[in-house]
Amino acid sequence: MSPPLRGGDPRPVLVGGGSGRLGRLVVAGLLAQGVRVRVLSRQSTLAAHLAQAGVELSQGELAEPGTLQRALSGVRAAFLLSPISPDLAQHQRHFVQAARQAGVPRLVKLSGSAWTLSPAGRTWSGDAHRQVEQALADSGLPHAVLRPNAWAQVVLAPLAAALRAGDVLSGGFGPAQVSYIDIRDIADVAVHTLLSPGPLPTAPLELTGPEALSHAELAQRLSALAGRPIRWQASAPAPAPDHPSYLQQVHAQFHHWISTGVAAPVTATVAQTLGRPARRLDGPDGFLRELLATGGLRGHGVD
Ligand SMILES: NC(=O)c1ccc[n+]([C@@H]2O[C@H](COP(=O)([O-])OP(=O)(O)OC[C@H]3O[C@@H](n4cnc5c(N)ncnc54)[C@H](OP(=O)(O)O)[C@@H]3O)[C@@H](O)[C@H]2O)c1
Repeated sequence: MSPPLRGGDPRPVLVGGGSGRLGRLVVAGLLAQGVRVRVLSRQSTLAAHLAQAGVELSQGELAEPGTLQRALSGVRAAFLLSPISPDLAQHQRHFVQAARQAGVPRLVKLSGSAWTLSPAGRTWSGDAHRQVEQALADSGLPHAVLRPNAWAQVVLAPLAAALRAGDVLSGGFGPAQVSYIDIRDIADVAVHTLLSPGPLPTAPLELTGPEALSHAELAQRLSALAGRPIRWQASAPAPAPDHPSYLQQVHAQFHHWISTGVAAPVTATVAQTLGRPARRLDGPDGFLRELLATGGLRGHGVD
């Protein structure tokens, strides 16, 4: 017998980006609540385990608005996520328009880190996300915006290779601290916000981890967990390529601003939303332990 649908609502939740790093955790969280899930993807098939779990595929392309109507029809809620690209704003505005036409009752948008959006002009991706936030506000759709800070499982992924190579971390953002968030906490907040019967938050939810750490402090935490010396060595950033891609330029913008300390502030939003503290990187099931145990990111479907 299938588990009860939370809230008894038989309509599916559409997850945009449901095959990606964060989206697949949102899918798993919704399935764990016994909710019907529909994934928007450009692919013609779903991963076998998702198909077996009863997840529906709605094949669609954000660049082609005509493909989004079907995906959004009859849903109880929708999650909007797409990767950073020069087309992010246009793609996501297509999704907002289609959601408005379909009368989607609740939409949750995954936006950029708060410091990328404000002040305007700081980063290209932040400007694009802000345009979409504005389109959502103008649409009149019931919606919420999540602005997660730097994701531990993505931004700190290079630590895995450093640990395999010999317990010396490099890179990082000089002495600047970052309140990295565990990607599982973002997914938990997304699932909560998609399903909660209560009113939607009126202001963007700025999500961070419970503390801010520099790379030198990360090395100290790793040493304590591993019981062996792991150190951080400052290194010059890799030289910029002659013809950087759009994504390389956005990453250079991130690196510049994070190095000034803008990603250090800590918010209590995860705890206030979920009623439990945000995951610590060195907590019992924290990212740093997993990094030491598995060399990185296996186990959460993050690569
Ligand atoms: N990493 C961070 O620290 C951080 C911090 C704050 C915010 N963010 C935000 O996180 C987002 C990226 O999330 P992620 O890393 O989970 O993404 P990801 O792993 O790159 O996944 C991208 C997803 O988008 C789908 N997709 C891509 N292009 C599409 C298109 N044209 N039409 C329909 N679907 C499309 C892909 O599906 P298919 O391939 O199956 O079609 C895939 O499921 C960005 O918006 C970024 O600004 C990231």
